[in-house]
Amino acid sequence: MSLQNKKILLVIGGGIAAYKSLELIRRLRERGSAVTAVLTQGGAEFVTALSVAALTGEKVHTHLFDLTTEAEIGHIALSRAADLVVVAPATADLMAKMANGHANDLASTMLLATDKRVLIAPAMNVRMWQHPATQRNIAQLKADGVIFIGPNDGDMACGEYGPGRMAEPLEIVAAITQALAAPAGPLAGTRALVTAGPTYEPIDPVRFIANRSSGKQGYAIAAALAAAGAHTTLVSGPTELSPPPGAKLVRVETARQMLAACEAALPADIAVCTAAVADWRPEIAANSKLKKKGDGPAPALHLTENPDILATLSRHAKNRPQLVIGFAAETDDLIANAKAKLVRKGCDWIVANDVSANTGVMGGDNNTVHLITAKATEDWPAMSKADVATRLAQRIAETFSQDLGNQAV
Ligand code: CTP
Repeated sequence: MSLQNKKILLVIGGGIAAYKSLELIRRLRERGSAVTAVLTQGGAEFVTALSVAALTGEKVHTHLFDLTTEAEIGHIALSRAADLVVVAPATADLMAKMANGHANDLASTMLLATDKRVLIAPAMNVRMWQHPATQRNIAQLKADGVIFIGPNDGDMACGEYGPGRMAEPLEIVAAITQALAAPAGPLAGTRALVTAGPTYEPIDPVRFIANRSSGKQGYAIAAALAAAGAHTTLVSGPTELSPPPGAKLVRVETARQMLAACEAALPADIAVCTAAVADWRPEIAANSKLKKKGDGPAPALHLTENPDILATLSRHAKNRPQLVIGFAAETDDLIANAKAKLVRKGCDWIVANDVSANTGVMGGDNNTVHLITAKATEDWPAMSKADVATRLAQRIAETFSQDLGNQAV
């Protein structure tokens, strides 16, 4: 794996080890990588923006509200343009911000906004490293998929001895090389397609038929599949949610647009249809706003059936995904209806969930689901939609590792 033409976004935190980051930039550049640097306020106490700019050959980013930079590129774009984000040195404070989702300066905002993998090289006093607060943050960051290099044991600038020394530049280069080469998770190399949210079916330019779907479950599944390494496309109806990290988001409004976007995302190995697609749409969407006609009759809506995206993907002649998963939103006879739906739609698995008003599933953050496969029905305990997503991604990954090449999933 070569570092030629790789784009590294380097965040330099405020620690004495920042001087080693200058060396890191040189080592990365001599291997053909472009390095864009974000220098925190603390970092700037140890190395100057001038030295960093001279070594990277680029403008150094220092402030969140830098009008020129925001107009030209913006912190979101900055965080997305890289192949890998590297934080070196990662101070206790930066790690705490990352673990808790703070966004109060350029570095933390960018680290929260990025959809790329993040590698950190911690550097701090040994007691700070060993403090329970830092240890909690380390555990959280590892659970979030952050990659660690170091710290090393040794004499510290503060005169103490122990873990806390930042890894050496060449060790960091090796970790970067590995991070860029390594498959990102159990679903690396697969392609996933997820549908989510409601659809809006226009009646006229200002009115539409929709439903109460929030899209939360589908977004969580797209994020979980992406985190497991699948190249994930999320086709979403209108929602208020932020794009899930790591997934490609395609926004649509109507069922027909959703189907077209799904077709465009094929071929895929995995399809998960969570969208609450409107079953019907007005046969004709008026070009101008329908007006009240005094005492005349209310307009009658003539509805026509929408395409069934799940059934279309399940029966796709040319590009049927190897594993097609549907959701069955039911208010009565949950399991029986869901099993019938699995057969009717031709999918491989169906996730049954009770969406009766008293469950709070529609729009809520929790879900109680049953996973129905050809072989069994698994009753999962009540959990957050994020946990349902992680567990489903794990089940998908298990199936792919067991049945690779075997169509009978
Ligand atoms: N679905 C779809 N396209 C449609 C309708 C539904 O892709 N036009 C998918 C949903 O994303 C979900 C599954 O089909 O994965 C079941 O959706 P649901 O609304 O529960 O079922 P319906 O098809 O509406 O069937 P019923 O009216 O019997 O509930």
